[in-house]
Amino acid sequence: MYICLCNNINETQIRQAAAQGANSLADLRDGLGVASQCGQCACMAEAVLECEQQRLGLYRTAGQRGPRTGHQPNGAAAHAAA
Ligand code: FES
Repeated sequence: MYICLCNNINETQIRQAAAQGANSLADLRDGLGVASQCGQCACMAEAVLECEQQRLGLYRTAGQRGPRTGHQPNGAAAHAAA
């Protein structure tokens, strides 16, 4: 399914970008051009990004800018077990 019509960016491309480390709409914009023109795709692009991050086990919580690495179901810091 196309997400960004202005730049012909589809859901698969956004999911691939997430798997390669894209972590924000800015990353998608810089890497793929998503939301760089009319901006109508921004919310859907972020939703696809977050969905893929969850699928990959990379969670973001409110106020957190980067993804966590690995599954952290109890909210423990990624480095706490080290
Ligand atoms: S639909 Fe993505 S910038 Fe217009």
